[in-house]
Amino acid sequence: MSANPAPGIALDNWSVRFGATTALDQVSTEFPGGTVTALLGENGSGKSTLIKVLSGLYTPSRGATLTVTGAAHALPTTGERIASAGIRFLHQDLGLVGSMTVAENIALGNRYGTAVLGRIRPSTVVRRAREAMSIIGVDLDPDASIDSLHPSQRTLCALARAYGQPLADGEAVHALILDEPSATLDPVDTHVLHRVVRRAAASGTAVVVVTHRLDEVVSLADRIVVLRHGRLVEDAPLGNRSVSDLAAVVLGAAAAARRPNPTPLSHSEVRLRLTGVVTDSLAGLDLDVRAGEVVGVAGLLGDGTEDLSAVLAGRTIRSGSILVEDKPAKSLVHAGVVTVPADRRRAGVVPALSVAENIALASHRKLGLLRRIDPRVDDREARTWIAALDIRPADPSAPVASLSGGNQQKVSLAKALASSPRVLVLNEPTQGVDVGARRDISDAIDAATGDGLAVVLITSDHEELLELSDRILVLHRGVVGASFARGELTGASLLEALSDPTLSKEGTR
Ligand SMILES: Nc1ncnc2c1ncn2[C@@H]1O[C@H](COP(=O)(O)OP(=O)(O)OP(=O)(O)O)[C@@H](O)[C@H]1O
Ligand SMILES: [Mg+2]
Repeated sequence: MSANPAPGIALDNWSVRFGATTALDQVSTEFPGGTVTALLGENGSGKSTLIKVLSGLYTPSRGATLTVTGAAHALPTTGERIASAGIRFLHQDLGLVGSMTVAENIALGNRYGTAVLGRIRPSTVVRRAREAMSIIGVDLDPDASIDSLHPSQRTLCALARAYGQPLADGEAVHALILDEPSATLDPVDTHVLHRVVRRAAASGTAVVVVTHRLDEVVSLADRIVVLRHGRLVEDAPLGNRSVSDLAAVVLGAAAAARRPNPTPLSHSEVRLRLTGVVTDSLAGLDLDVRAGEVVGVAGLLGDGTEDLSAVLAGRTIRSGSILVEDKPAKSLVHAGVVTVPADRRRAGVVPALSVAENIALASHRKLGLLRRIDPRVDDREARTWIAALDIRPADPSAPVASLSGGNQQKVSLAKALASSPRVLVLNEPTQGVDVGARRDISDAIDAATGDGLAVVLITSDHEELLELSDRILVLHRGVVGASFARGELTGASLLEALSDPTLSKEGTR
């Protein structure tokens, strides 16, 4: 070992099995210092598993080795040992404690925090949290509870914890491992993330980023490492690969053409009508959604999209009216307005229950008390949805907690569709899902609207908005600032409309 070996991680011959599933299959690769490596692969290909072995959560099979900054590191590792080797993580589920404050969460998992959190002065915790946040260039309230934060802010808090604190010897973090950090970030916070990633790599840190946003890979990564069914299928410099080249590598031979969107039913009945809805950030919103159409809603933070989601999920309004199929709805859920939340881990699925049980919960609601409880029926229904959305593994009895992040998202959509909604409200539906799954999800949405379902799509993902929406409404200061038909907008003109809707076409509903 030389006196000052270059930072970096090398892993050799890593295999991990869960029962019949081989999550990692003899994977060997390197994450060199000063380099941004994009760790890519379809949902369930083994990316998070690799990261969890690195962080000491999972144990690889015999024969696996790990070298950190030139030194052999025993496996299985532990959270403490890997932290003292200078490696920091932002996990896919963030690992924040919702009831604790920003400052306390930043303190957790750091050596000055873990064992002694109760003994150090709260003012020190707050001061160190401020320092950590200023290092990554964000300014959250250290005393705010995690539960009160927007998902994007929670991710920044986890990033501050991972990267915002120098090592004990004052050195920069040796490796920064980020599992889908951008999935929950809005466009502005994505810039914060990218700045941190570039700065870390420039200072010699080995950065690993898991992402399904292939445009992000093109702009950020130096190298790509691609997993498929747990096996390493590509390990190379990014070169001049485009987004579609990357999609082909990620999907392999499975890449298939997407079928065109069916044309929406025109002149169909209005399923959902909001008139003059007022909340903290909605200022008299009017909105109609017809059977068979997907209405996409975009807006900058604070312009009302968050309140619209909350209202459609049942939050009370100050004034205005909401009609479902021309009738005032006492309870939107009972009237058939079903929401798929962005934060599926909190509200979308019950992780401890199986895929079949989660889907059955929805149809129990649909059929009420008259429904006979018959596990075979649940199993059959679950299999139908597993096939429709290509949920992997195709096992109705698998606990949802054991599924990869993207597959959990599919279960949450299946659960909503299985309840036969009249209006489906989708928040960030393809957040964290791979390119192939994105297609499965948009096909499922197409099929449902083809059957007359009305869909409200609230998303910060512009590509998704342009691809799925029949109409796009841009909210501005709590009302519809502009509205566009399918095809009227491009990525660039959407950005323009978001920043100043008065420049573009005026809209009403
Ligand atoms: N604790 C577990 N128990 C059983 N199976 C598991 C467990 N963790 C992961 N798996 C399985 O291992 C495989 C790899 O999962 P992993 O979470 O690594 O995927 P991923 O590449 O991170 O996917 P995503 O992009 O959806 O997050 C999947 O088939 C998953 O169902
Ligand atoms: Mg994952």
